[in-house]
Amino acid sequence: MSLAFSTASRNIARSALRVQRSSTSYPGYRISLRPTTALHARNSGSVAADAAEAVHQNAITNPDPSENSKSAAFIREYEPYSLTTYARPGLILAQGKGCYIWDVEGRKYLDFTAGIAVNALGYGDEELSKILYEQSLNMIHSSNLYYNEWTGPLCKLLVERTLATKGMQSASRVFVSNSGSEANEAALKFARKYGKASRGGGDDKYEVVSFYNSFHGRTMGSLSATPNPKYQKPFAPLVPGFRYARYNDIAGLDVITKNTCAVIIEPIQGEGGVYVATPEFITALRKKCDEVDAVLIFDEIQCGLGRSGFLWAHEAFPAEAQPDILTMAKALGNGIPIGAAMVSERIAQAVKIGDHGTTFGGNPLATRVAHYVVDKLSTREFLEDVKHKAELFRAGLEQLKEKYPSVVTEIRGTGLIWGVQLNREPNAVVDAARLRGLLVITAGTNTIRIVPPLVVKEEEILQGIEILDDAIASL
Ligand SMILES: Cc1ncc(COP(=O)(O)O)c(C=O)c1O
Repeated sequence: MSLAFSTASRNIARSALRVQRSSTSYPGYRISLRPTTALHARNSGSVAADAAEAVHQNAITNPDPSENSKSAAFIREYEPYSLTTYARPGLILAQGKGCYIWDVEGRKYLDFTAGIAVNALGYGDEELSKILYEQSLNMIHSSNLYYNEWTGPLCKLLVERTLATKGMQSASRVFVSNSGSEANEAALKFARKYGKASRGGGDDKYEVVSFYNSFHGRTMGSLSATPNPKYQKPFAPLVPGFRYARYNDIAGLDVITKNTCAVIIEPIQGEGGVYVATPEFITALRKKCDEVDAVLIFDEIQCGLGRSGFLWAHEAFPAEAQPDILTMAKALGNGIPIGAAMVSERIAQAVKIGDHGTTFGGNPLATRVAHYVVDKLSTREFLEDVKHKAELFRAGLEQLKEKYPSVVTEIRGTGLIWGVQLNREPNAVVDAARLRGLLVITAGTNTIRIVPPLVVKEEEILQGIEILDDAIASL
């Protein structure tokens, strides 16, 4: 396997990128970025500039595989058989450990994508692998027609760990699905059932309100709650009864009426570009839902399970701003497909045997893995560590903004979910970072999204910010 960074460039990185405790600018860290970038140095003619230039020129450590590589041959052979729904670079990922992944050519990448906010415990967690192996020998699947040893314990753990936080204090029962979209689909169905049967409800109480810039999934229900023309238009007509409002706009909440059965919202919009809901907005939203007896669904599929530095992102909101249903997926299985909708007892009472179901959802393999993951992610030490590392990201990214004011216009985020807003199309930076050994993804409009494994180490954060620095400098 090739090293992503030569020893020389590592040493330069170490000396160029220092972390200091600071009592002034940020409560946590102040990072010294490389004093000058190759871009700026090029014209200065100094020795320091030459050194910076040399680092920059050496910075492409991971050129994409060439036309005659085994990666290219592999893609040529198999691509014609795959339905093309994604644009991807020409590398084939083969294995990972911690926050690093390697492609089949032996190139090493620092991964700030975590499989789109999934691999919270990183790659190659040995305990998880042991559990997978053991459980696969015992039983992978048995259907929901029978009890198994792990679905119940997972549901209990999720409820107990949630009640131990400042989050959803009405958490009572859990429905386990296979994905985020299915978790939302279940939540929307439960809310419609609740609305029709509720006092003051009835057949007209079926409207669902969601927010512009949100992402709730690709199934017809969750897609109908995702008001992005790019995703919705080709598949119209969508499910009837969906209305949209503006995120963080209290005045716009008038769209919620007595005919609204549910409001679904991400406490932190992920795909939409990393926008955090304001406490005032969420509090007003909860109040409005109470006024019309609408079920409030928090979609924490991307921002939940430790990513915000809390077990649930909504713990950062006032105590009165809690959901009736909380959906989760992604990190729940650390890569093993699983999602869930956690409901209050009031909602649970509306859902009867036969109302909803799934063949695979809640299978003992996925639920045993999820039990292990939730147990690890929900400890105080784990979450404190995420909060601590968040400050390092905040400091480093804010400094990139200071350094490149003509490119980086805003830094948004919390915990280990960050959006770097550019004033231009971001793919050039994403590509430049990849060629230098760092994987990041895009979101929203011209945003670079950073969602590393939650086990990312401080030195990996520094290394990643250094590569982003180089990537932006190379524009
Ligand atoms: C907030 C949110 N909700 C729902 C989904 C859909 O989840 P899945 O892709 O597992 O169906 C996603 C996926 O990115 C998401 O970020």
